[in-house]
Amino acid sequence: MSASTSPSPAPAWLEARLRAAGGAVPFRTYMDWALHDPEHGAYGSGRLQVGPRGDFATSPSLGPDFAALLAPQIAQWLLQQPGDGPLALVETGPGEGHLALQLAEALAARWPELAARTTLVLVEPNAGMAQRQRRLLASEPLPCRWLSFAELAASPLVGVMLAHEVLDALAVERIEWDGALWRQQLVALHEELDAPPSLQLVPGEPLEPQALSQLEPLGLLQPGPQRAAGFTTELHPGLTPWLANAAAALAAGQLLVIDYAHEAWRYYGPQRSNGTLMAYRQQQACDDPLLEPGHWDLTAHLCLESLQAAAEASGWTPLGQRRQGEALLALGLAQQLHGLQQSAAGELPELLRRREALLRLVDPTALGDFRWIAFCRSGVADQSERALPERAQPEALPLFLQDPPLG
Ligand SMILES: C[S@@+](CC[C@H](N)C(=O)[O-])C[C@H]1O[C@@H](n2cnc3c(N)ncnc32)[C@H](O)[C@@H]1O
Repeated sequence: MSASTSPSPAPAWLEARLRAAGGAVPFRTYMDWALHDPEHGAYGSGRLQVGPRGDFATSPSLGPDFAALLAPQIAQWLLQQPGDGPLALVETGPGEGHLALQLAEALAARWPELAARTTLVLVEPNAGMAQRQRRLLASEPLPCRWLSFAELAASPLVGVMLAHEVLDALAVERIEWDGALWRQQLVALHEELDAPPSLQLVPGEPLEPQALSQLEPLGLLQPGPQRAAGFTTELHPGLTPWLANAAAALAAGQLLVIDYAHEAWRYYGPQRSNGTLMAYRQQQACDDPLLEPGHWDLTAHLCLESLQAAAEASGWTPLGQRRQGEALLALGLAQQLHGLQQSAAGELPELLRRREALLRLVDPTALGDFRWIAFCRSGVADQSERALPERAQPEALPLFLQDPPLG
């Protein structure tokens, strides 16, 4: 679905908020309300459903094979932690809880001694989502707790933290080039005689000098003739605070971020004149972020350079990154597919469903283009490495960065 030309009506709750704020707020504030407001937000209310029969599918929601392939990576990292003390598998933003459940089951079945030392910790700020996670995870095999970043900071854990399709739900700042200056984009109430109030995107004040220094490494300071007035894109000010909270929660261990992401040159290239922001609901995509606020998932890609800068500023060391298709092949996806073909013919419909799900996970035009980006909290990687390496140091090379197994 593309952006509608008719104005998007303002629901009463949002109209009241915008009036209280003087008629307009930065896009970032709007996105935060639309997603995370406890009563009206799409996640805050627990309204959004993740899965092929819900609003949008994610890799773990397609079935247990994604977690089965990821599990050896989690086990490798857990086994790398020094000592034989308690360990944690922390999932941030677990959605329905599919991935947490499937990983807990895989660890318990394949690495029981490791599982016996491991607690599952869920970090979910939206009460509506946490309620559904508690139902799904009621009988999973590991001890399980829901904790906030603030609670974890009080007694940080050792282990592995996952952020699967979470950072794309952090509210972004939208900025607009007016031909001479970068301006913050606002969401404003639009009022006309004899018409209900509607929402519109309007340019706000020019960006502060501090924000401009953020634009330089992204190649955005001199927009040039190709970047016409009206060029709109996103910045990610929520990343540094989120990564700092995540770092404070983990005394030692690894963080795996899995999300849509572009290099800065692709993200901010002149051809991408409307950024990456998209809305999803009931398996439909739409590029109008103002449509039915609180009913659509709003999501923006990550910029790899911005993520790395925010991670390093927050105490994380990069371990490397890879596209999901390559990462899953390194973890044995081809063997998993081959194994399915050897299975009993009586289970054919289920086998075909799993085969289709595995192929979707590596499809380079869809989930296969996701990035797996790993960081660590201790001296596992060379601290002097500045560029986001395609590969980590050999002695610490995560399994998903290694060459695919033969055969
Ligand atoms: C797109 S869903 C991803 C669900 C799940 N990880 C999956 O891939 O199926 C985003 C999840 O992140 C949660 N979330 C949103 N903001 C968050 C934040 N600041 N920290 C942790 N989780 C957050 C949402 O409530 C939701 O559970």
